[in-house]
Amino acid sequence: MHYQVTQHVLKTCQYLVSLLPDSEKTKPQVLLLAGGVVDYRNDTDREIAFRQESNFYYLTGCNTPSSYVLVGYQPGTSLDKTPSVELFIPEANLADMMWSVPPISLAAAKEIHDVTRVDHPPALPAAVAKLIKALPGALFHVLPRASPLFPVINEEYLQPILAAENEGGAVTDFYLLSALHRARLTKDAHEISLIQKACDISSRAHEVVMRVLGAAVKGGIVVGAGAGVDRPLLPGEWLIEKEAEAEAIFVASCRREGAVHQAYLPIVAASTRASTLHYCCNGGNDKEFAWGPVGADDHQNRNSLSSGKDFKPQVLLIDAGCEWTCYAADITRTMPVGNGGKFTPEAKAIYELVLEMQKACMEILKPGLHWDAAHLLSHRVLVRGFQKLGIFKSPSSPNSGSWASEEAILASGQSTAFYPHGLGHSLGMDVHDVPSASKPAVNNTIAENNKAVELGHASFYEFLRLRVKLEEGMVVTVEPGIYFSPHLLASVRESALIDHEVLKRYESVGGVRIEDVVHITAEGMESLTKVKSDVEWIEGVCSGAL
Ligand code: GLY
Ligand code: MN
Ligand code: MN
Repeated sequence: MHYQVTQHVLKTCQYLVSLLPDSEKTKPQVLLLAGGVVDYRNDTDREIAFRQESNFYYLTGCNTPSSYVLVGYQPGTSLDKTPSVELFIPEANLADMMWSVPPISLAAAKEIHDVTRVDHPPALPAAVAKLIKALPGALFHVLPRASPLFPVINEEYLQPILAAENEGGAVTDFYLLSALHRARLTKDAHEISLIQKACDISSRAHEVVMRVLGAAVKGGIVVGAGAGVDRPLLPGEWLIEKEAEAEAIFVASCRREGAVHQAYLPIVAASTRASTLHYCCNGGNDKEFAWGPVGADDHQNRNSLSSGKDFKPQVLLIDAGCEWTCYAADITRTMPVGNGGKFTPEAKAIYELVLEMQKACMEILKPGLHWDAAHLLSHRVLVRGFQKLGIFKSPSSPNSGSWASEEAILASGQSTAFYPHGLGHSLGMDVHDVPSASKPAVNNTIAENNKAVELGHASFYEFLRLRVKLEEGMVVTVEPGIYFSPHLLASVRESALIDHEVLKRYESVGGVRIEDVVHITAEGMESLTKVKSDVEWIEGVCSGAL
């Protein structure tokens, strides 16, 4: 199995033509994209890690910086089935070779890339001129030129195309990105295998963190003589007592398996900090775990602290995933720390409810289901669960004076204060993949059989990043969560629907999110996430029993 460039180019061109006005549909279409360039950090002469621009990679499978691709396509001609794909990769420069690994040779590039031709960029102007001549009246497509998100096409390569406008051609940046996003929304088997690999490595990294926590609970992390005094600690001697240590072990586990990039900065939040959804930048991931008095079965923290102090029972939320050749994983696990590696009763109740939200949604996923419906179901399960716990009042609440029905609570939108984000998003080369194809500007897609479907409350959808019907081949995350964030709870502090005494008991949990990556298949879905999430397994590993 290899990277299906021809198929990706065809799929993109077909969507592109479908987006064009009728008068343009039969014209030849030419695509010109620049790949990413290597950036340098100021005054270091050192590269910032290179990551290819996603759309360029999708159309080429080429990871070489400073490359270009030129595509020719015309419906109803031989280019209809096999578009021309000309890839231009930079020539090795002798002066650079003592500093850096040279770019791949033309011969090697021809072997590995599923393209019509490979050459060096100086051959690009002639290739453009040839296409202009061979495809008169062609419409040239580029990525949005005013956007800083896309590599800039060298003026030298763009000028001949702009000049061709006088001869009936035209250049537009209006359609190409939408076509690429639409094409990228569903994945082929090889793309699924790359996401699976990223998920496998990330699943193991999550498990490694949990196993290090569990080993410490059992006193199984042995620090050799002189460690930390005469010599640094070695990896097997590391305890996880701070967010940064958990992050370091996660990233190290991915890197040793060959992953070059994390798909996004890991989010590693202990205790009530788990209520900050994207707790990672400017002061995130850098706190010690919360400490408290030692309980009989507690983790003893032998190596760094005097006895008498131990972790307070708390959760550790890790939302992290690596990238494998430009394809992402995005996985969240929430695990117990302190309390001997077991959840407190409150944390366990919230964890089990989040798991129930996730399971209920996963059970209904299949092609044709609108993602709004799955998201609404996750709120419904939350409301039902909160009524059982007594956080939302129910008829059996002790002070049930102003209890409301599940429907009425849903209509109030108050579950948003506990679950402010969306159920999930499309995942692919980018973590929040293909935004323009995920969320139509006007969402009228929920209407089923011309009948408006109950949507719950508008606030549920503010941060929902996917608002379309599922299709076979899509990859999405399913990531419900429940949070007790003081900022968000401010909006429901006066609510008559909530039993505030009961709520108080749960606030110290902070937050729980469980996130898995799933592939939508013809019959339903398959999970690409291997690390387990049931309470028995999580507690077994984090307590060192498994
Ligand atoms: N890791 C970011 C998210 O889950 O969407
Ligand atoms: Mn996610
Ligand atoms: Mn995530």
